[in-house]
Amino acid sequence: MVILGWDVEMRDRISESGVIEDQELAEYYSLMAKRYMRIPCQRVLSRIKAKGIEKGKALDVGTGPGIFPIFLSKALPNVQFKAIDLSPVMVDIARKNATEAGIRDGIDVQVGSAYSLPCEDHSLDLLLCINTLHHLDQPIMFFNEVARALKEGGGFVIVDFHRDSSPFLIWGFNVLWKLFFKSHPRAKEGFLESIRSSYTLEECRDFLKESVLKNWTLSTRTVEMWIESTPAQNNG
Ligand SMILES: C[S@@+](CC[C@H](N)C(=O)[O-])C[C@H]1O[C@@H](n2cnc3c(N)ncnc32)[C@H](O)[C@@H]1O
Repeated sequence: MVILGWDVEMRDRISESGVIEDQELAEYYSLMAKRYMRIPCQRVLSRIKAKGIEKGKALDVGTGPGIFPIFLSKALPNVQFKAIDLSPVMVDIARKNATEAGIRDGIDVQVGSAYSLPCEDHSLDLLLCINTLHHLDQPIMFFNEVARALKEGGGFVIVDFHRDSSPFLIWGFNVLWKLFFKSHPRAKEGFLESIRSSYTLEECRDFLKESVLKNWTLSTRTVEMWIESTPAQNNG
């Protein structure tokens, strides 16, 4: 059944694994993220603050242009941010953005994989992964890495789309996305590609249960799902 152009029977995930290597597309994404990501950054910040995390080591996985760690390291000066992305093109852009924001030395940006996080066991106070889970074809492997990397009591905030969102919401967000990203032919189709590649809530819940990650909550807000550490794992 098709509602507002979205095939709601289309249950199968269409993988969008891989990275943005195209320089022009990556720069366009960076430009748009700098322009429109302020409110999403504030929402993530409020969740981190709610967990009482104000210092220590943080890692942002799939950082893209680095907008989240740049914003957060200004708001949380006692948190030492590291950021990784599989795309060297994105890593260069994130470093440039950090320099432009005046915090190049404050954030360590490296090429790295969500499946092999560049940190010692139980060394992180905070792990972030924003709008990246749908790129990961092996989410259990990633969740296991999160469990390995976090200190006991460390917090995590993982945000992504979910494929079983309401077709009306998907339609509405797609209209807005096309409006904002209209000047790039590939970028403007990006929202639906990402939704198709995302997991349903049930799939994600099953992956979490199969993983060794404990003390998580899974909730939805519009087309997003939020996977967060519960108070039992908090620092606060
Ligand atoms: C949609 S972007 C999100 C960027 C950023 N978190 C944001 O919200 O603005 C997803 C990023 O994940 C990266 N990525 C994809 N697969 C990855 C993997 N296995 N490990 C690390 N990064 C990955 C891509 O290169 C891309 O920059």
